[in-house]
Amino acid sequence: MAAGTLQLAVALLSLLGGALSFPLGQETKHTATCGYESCHATKPNMLNVHLVPHTHDDVGWLKTVDQYYYGDRNDIQHAGVQYILDSVVDQLLKNPDRRFIYVETAFFYRWWKQQSSGMQQTVKQLVNEGRLEFVNGGWCMSDEATTHYSAVIDQMTMGLRFLNETFGACGRPRVAWHIDPFGHAREHASMFAQMGYDGFFFGRLDYQDRTHRMIHKEQELLWRASDSLTPPVADLFTGILPNGYNPPDGFCWDQSCDDPPIRDDPDLEDYNVDDVVNRFLVIANSQATVYKTNHIIMTMGSDFQYENANLWYKNLDKLIHYVNALQANGSKVNVLYSTPSCYLQELHRANLTWSLKTDDFFPYADSAHDFWTGYFTSRPALKRYERISNSNLQTCNQLEVLGGPASRKGPFGEGDSETMKKAMAVAQHHDAVSGTEKQHVANDYARRLANGWQHCQVLVSNSLAALSGSSAERIYCDNLNISVCPLTESSKKFSVNVYNPLARPVTWPVRLPVNGSAYTVSDATGKAVDCQVVPVSKATREVRRNRGFAVNELVFQVQAPPLGYSTYSVSLRQEGPPPTSTQHRTPTVLQNKFLRVTFDPDTGLLSSLSNLETKQSIKLTQNFYWYNASDGNNSQSIQPSGAYIFRPNSSTPFIISQTAKTETIQTSVVQEVRQWFAPWVSQVVRLYADSRALELEWTVGPLPIDDSLGKEVITRLDTSIKTSEIFYTDSNGREVLQRKKDFRPTWNLKQSEPIAGNYYPINSRAYIKDDVDQLTVVTDRSQGGGSIHNGSLEIMLHRRLLYDDVRGVGEPLNETSHIFPEGLVVRGRLLLSLNPPPVAADAHRPLAQEVVLQPLLTFTDGDLSLNTQLEFSGLQAALPPNVHLLTLTQWDKESVLLRLEHQFQSWESKVNSQPVTVNLQKLFSTLEVLGVSELNLSANQWKDEMIRFHWKPQTDNDPLLKTFEDPSTWEVTLRPMEIRTFLLRVSRR
Ligand SMILES: *[C@@H]1O[C@H](CO)[C@@H](O)[C@H](O)[C@H]1NC(C)=O
Ligand SMILES: *[C@@H]1O[C@H](CO)[C@@H](O)[C@H](O)[C@H]1NC(C)=O
Ligand SMILES: [Zn+2]
Repeated sequence: MAAGTLQLAVALLSLLGGALSFPLGQETKHTATCGYESCHATKPNMLNVHLVPHTHDDVGWLKTVDQYYYGDRNDIQHAGVQYILDSVVDQLLKNPDRRFIYVETAFFYRWWKQQSSGMQQTVKQLVNEGRLEFVNGGWCMSDEATTHYSAVIDQMTMGLRFLNETFGACGRPRVAWHIDPFGHAREHASMFAQMGYDGFFFGRLDYQDRTHRMIHKEQELLWRASDSLTPPVADLFTGILPNGYNPPDGFCWDQSCDDPPIRDDPDLEDYNVDDVVNRFLVIANSQATVYKTNHIIMTMGSDFQYENANLWYKNLDKLIHYVNALQANGSKVNVLYSTPSCYLQELHRANLTWSLKTDDFFPYADSAHDFWTGYFTSRPALKRYERISNSNLQTCNQLEVLGGPASRKGPFGEGDSETMKKAMAVAQHHDAVSGTEKQHVANDYARRLANGWQHCQVLVSNSLAALSGSSAERIYCDNLNISVCPLTESSKKFSVNVYNPLARPVTWPVRLPVNGSAYTVSDATGKAVDCQVVPVSKATREVRRNRGFAVNELVFQVQAPPLGYSTYSVSLRQEGPPPTSTQHRTPTVLQNKFLRVTFDPDTGLLSSLSNLETKQSIKLTQNFYWYNASDGNNSQSIQPSGAYIFRPNSSTPFIISQTAKTETIQTSVVQEVRQWFAPWVSQVVRLYADSRALELEWTVGPLPIDDSLGKEVITRLDTSIKTSEIFYTDSNGREVLQRKKDFRPTWNLKQSEPIAGNYYPINSRAYIKDDVDQLTVVTDRSQGGGSIHNGSLEIMLHRRLLYDDVRGVGEPLNETSHIFPEGLVVRGRLLLSLNPPPVAADAHRPLAQEVVLQPLLTFTDGDLSLNTQLEFSGLQAALPPNVHLLTLTQWDKESVLLRLEHQFQSWESKVNSQPVTVNLQKLFSTLEVLGVSELNLSANQWKDEMIRFHWKPQTDNDPLLKTFEDPSTWEVTLRPMEIRTFLLRVSRR
């Protein structure tokens, strides 16, 4: 519909029923201002009820993101986002008092592209007047338990950048809005604070926590989300919404609801205004008793609502009119159209102090036996694929910068990073990487990531061609984890380019599927590298099926320079020693320069771990178990385990096997004990020559279900460490939080699920410790885990369930595929390190980064031309060990976005928890930095323009931001856990 027609509609509407349609008692401000200035006036001596019309549009869940956008497959769920935006804009134009917020930029972007310039102008006007307001504004509303901070920052940056570029300052959201995620991570709050948000609202928290907060009027609080950043840098005002994100009972006027409309013509039957108004006043007054100020918020909307926005707005107009009309008779309730930021502004004006929270909102339970701790592990293969994709995307971004314009358009065609950026952004959604979507939607996320990687591969090939001077075809082997790579399986001579996306050199083990029995490997200088050939394991042959045919693996260690590559060449030898064979004797010990692990000769299980450098040793046994998933047929509760919920039938898991059959391989490069527990559980305990970490490579699946029992498989490490029921987990891959069994820091927990109620998200690491020993486990994806017994740490690896858990997804989590019709097999790695607690972070911080940003291997067949540049580093020198290069990506033609991060917490390390200074002009080897400006974390605001509301905690001496000065324009100082974001204007040297 054209704007002109709409104007007419407004005129008509006011002619027909102006007084009734427009709320009285509110000035209809019509100023061309957005943000806080566009808020409706409130009444200081009344209870002000902020009605927030909103829609919650999942970026994929029961339908794919595109199906939701178009309203396709309405047989699955009636939902069409394009119609929502059409209809809302239409209705906003009909009454300037009306307000709407929009949240998910992935959808808004799709809609915006399809609008005429006239409609775009109309929408800009609505945004400029604050009638349509963006909140949150990331590409999606990310999951908080299973996402890694690197990918969250990227997806927020992408959404907010689109809003800034499209709408300027009026498009910048003031409020973060996570109304649906199933528990809330402290690191998310820290990131939101650093992105400049004035406040944060969410809907879900533990039911006991909610009750406690209602009694103490602490549903609005100040979250201090970092123990390292100086307050108020990571302080975030946090509000818990009264009714999830739904309207109060009886007040849902969407086409998807059945509540009675307001029937306000006394001449017609069923006049119900008095009834509606009275019910509303009761709800409002009751809600006011559990919040602190004379302002309350009501979320008027829900999942995919407002497709026919007329229904909602027509009734809201009337509600506002009739409730406020009673003010003439002394009513003290004032209702208004509002937004979360307008509500927040009133809370800020109230000038109160707020209770301070320093822990997080995990785990989330919505009643006694309903802990949402299963999704920490659900769809483990998708979770790993998402994590690898992030690594590949960062490499793609970096190589786009380092290779210059030739990366996008070069000998291999046109490549881009945008496709992958969008796929990754969509994958952060709270029903994507969380594993809580339908199977066909999970397939769609994976397909998008694969397609994004295709686009990136062209870019990476072009960039490496530009940097190396060789346009030889590059081959990608994405299935090396199952020993599949057609090139290395058949070639007699090939080279491997190892690109390292970290800003410091790394040593990395490479394993390539081969069919020869002896090879020569040489590094970029031509020096021979120790390499060994070992047989492909039975477990690997079984999991790869007929996708590859290698009988052996060639194993060697490579070194790659910071933000650069090194090239290794491999040739088959005519003659040489036979491959190392496996020994069936029971192993007793694996040992390198750093570590020693022993095995129990009777059981074949691990029995101890020692750090030879620090001369410490712990008892360590490890085995695999499964919990029998509740089927809902239970005296205490009918809740089954499902995609969201973990509910074991018993607190004692079944052991899969008391003993492991073992095979041992010992070579100069790697030593392994291959353990076989069951046809569906095996593991390799692996120690590389130069590694300070012990690798446990687990292969689990297909989980048998012929006994009709759902299974949730864990591995458990039982140690001699005295943990006092405490363990530690990271938040979104960053700061670490302490967890205590059957305990919550802010209320007296009544524990009703002894296992599921003690599970927490493990995003990148977990550890247990006492005064002497700290055992840290670095994971390769998000998983759930707990410490149920003293000295013990368990991690859930895989789940296969037979019932839906009644939280909407409507499918049991029972993953199969065409290659695995009998159930998915999943493989992953845990990396163990043992250190004294004061220096443990010096080991686990870099180790975890190596897993998150892993080297990318590309292959070329045959000989490389003689003038090929075999080694390259994009940096002049490695960054100090406490600095992580988080982001390097092309921003526009002249500039690149750079994020540098101090990767240690303030208390973690004597050496590394110190401030560190980096000179931006001395950073890059091939780029000259001409100019620098600092941005907020999400890169949508200049740092010096970022002014946030100041909130006062109840219990605090109210520390003020210490301002730190950088030594000079080019030298920037990073303090523990600080991330700094820069836009650099660069030219190529
Ligand atoms: C806010 O409250 C403090 C006392 O806690 C008072 O000193 C200050 O003037 C108040 N500010 C405003 C704007 O009312
Ligand atoms: C925001 O977008 C405007 C154009 O709308 C641009 O000029 C400005 O530089 C952008 N701000 C940031 C921080 O990128
Ligand atoms: Zn949702």
